Amino acid sequence: MRSFKSLVLILGALISVSNAINVVSTNDDGWAEQNIRVLFNDLVAAGYNVVLSAPALDKSGTGSSDAPATTLASACEFNSCPKGSPAEGSDASNSRLNYVNSFPVTSVRFGIQTLSPQFFGGPPDIVVSGPNVGANLGSTTQISGTVGAACEAVKEGIPAIAFSGSTGSQIGFTAAAPSPNYPSIYATLSTTITNTLTSTAKPFLPAGIFLNVNFPSTSSCTSASKFSFVLSRINSASSGTPADVSTCGTTRLPTESSVVGTKGCFVSISVGNATTKDDATAASQATVLSKLSSLLSCI
Ligand SMILES: *[C@@H]1O[C@H](CO)[C@@H](O)[C@H](O)[C@H]1NC(C)=O
Repeated sequence: MRSFKSLVLILGALISVSNAINVVSTNDDGWAEQNIRVLFNDLVAAGYNVVLSAPALDKSGTGSSDAPATTLASACEFNSCPKGSPAEGSDASNSRLNYVNSFPVTSVRFGIQTLSPQFFGGPPDIVVSGPNVGANLGSTTQISGTVGAACEAVKEGIPAIAFSGSTGSQIGFTAAAPSPNYPSIYATLSTTITNTLTSTAKPFLPAGIFLNVNFPSTSSCTSASKFSFVLSRINSASSGTPADVSTCGTTRLPTESSVVGTKGCFVSISVGNATTKDDATAASQATVLSKLSSLLSCI
């Protein structure tokens, strides 16, 4: 009887592992930056099966650049690996934490094509990129490596979200948590959005679509519970721009810059075309609106 109960418990544990959602985590600020490590820990605590695959060095602003990874000519950022380390490597205490000495796009591809089969036995269910140190609003999406990596994942058929936060500067994961603790706040908000999206039916996003999420400054928004979430546009509409999805009493979404710039604590969630890194069609916006309806509100 006792051993039968143990067997049931073990089987239950195995099933819950196999049902976990598989996530590749990446960024452009580098694998040892505090934001990405805090989010990694939050996602693991929330029950996700996560593998981190991000640049060995800060590769901010490198867009969709891509090049074969090379041996480290200097130490990894924040001395997180020694000079002369191999082109790809992992943390000695956790093989799920991986660097790639190249660009964000190269790193996320290594995560999807090489690490995911090893850890998940197949492709990930979703890619989360960031949270980036600093906002990625409007035309900045064109040069952001955080957005570049998310768009690469989508091109490989994996739904992806790019997260960026206005507050902070680059600090290593072993540094003391800053005050206000923006890495923790942004990680909680990122996990909330990921939870909402991945609790909907697959596909989590329409083909060719990524989400561009921006968190406002934490200077007067000092806990995750103070934030609300608003569907937005990446770029301003011009007179010829087709209508957006109808919501909040209008067929024109606010720009993400205006959402995060509004007094209060508003997170912008824009629906992007991974090819153009520009706004998606109203039909794709409508799919995202419906999936995230429990989370979204109006300004
Ligand atoms: C993305 O934009 C390209 C170029 O305009 C277009 O061909 C493609 O259909 C768009 N993808 C989606 C999912 O709307």
